[in-house]
Amino acid sequence: MSFKLRVERAAHEKKSNIILALDPSVGSSHHLLKQSTRILEEVIPHICGLKINRQLVLPLGLFNGTQKILRLAQEEGLPTIMDCKINDVGYTNRAIADYYFKAGFDAVVANPFVGWIDGLQPVFEVAKSTDRGVILLVYMSHKGAPEGYGQTIQNPKTHNYTPQYVAFAEKALTWKADGAVVGATYPEKIEEIHSILKDNVPIFSPGVGAQGGDIEKAMKAGARYLIVGRAITLSKDPAEAAERIRNIAQEHSK
Ligand code: XMP
Repeated sequence: MSFKLRVERAAHEKKSNIILALDPSVGSSHHLLKQSTRILEEVIPHICGLKINRQLVLPLGLFNGTQKILRLAQEEGLPTIMDCKINDVGYTNRAIADYYFKAGFDAVVANPFVGWIDGLQPVFEVAKSTDRGVILLVYMSHKGAPEGYGQTIQNPKTHNYTPQYVAFAEKALTWKADGAVVGATYPEKIEEIHSILKDNVPIFSPGVGAQGGDIEKAMKAGARYLIVGRAITLSKDPAEAAERIRNIAQEHSK
């Protein structure tokens, strides 16, 4: 089963579209593993997936600490995403994706800026051959996102002018990506990108809570999954925070 269907099934079964961004604060690897495991165990009933980024893999190591967390998620039927924003030449990209998939991740995040040939094509090849997913950055959530994702570009084939994020959304369709990341901090961009992707490529939206994004606006604009970190992980009661965010999102899901 494809990653896209697996995460859809998890969302249906868990009645949740919340993906936990497990970014614990800085500390020793022993402390980080304990803290991450505790938070994940507490919020499992309220989430449909887990996202980890290099902030955690670097101190824990890929094949030791990180795998312990991945196994816990897998036992609970939660798909896992490595937020590695792959962004290099194809030969290196393929090796990076291969390592993450071998460690047990179900999907990787990649940056379409590097293009297809000798860029992301090898990543899609290794992902599709192992039923894993590739999620593309289409419009990031931070304040500087318009400088790159929002610039106007000239399409090298048609010579037409178009926003960068529109070109990336079209690539997500053409390349059959399993998801597109669009920041919840830009609901108008979610709406515009959703009108291009429709239900073919689900939108994964980070940025609610700590970055100021609004759950209701993001959901109404067309986000399918919300990626949530600090609003849960830094809460005094992560389970309560996850449940509350899940319930608001469910209320406004289409
Ligand atoms: P917070 O604490 O802000 O965490 O809820 C958000 C999580 O999502 C990641 N993030 C992004 N990942 N594209 C991505 O691929 C984005 O535009 C983006 N914005 C935030 C961030 O690394 C953290 O794990």
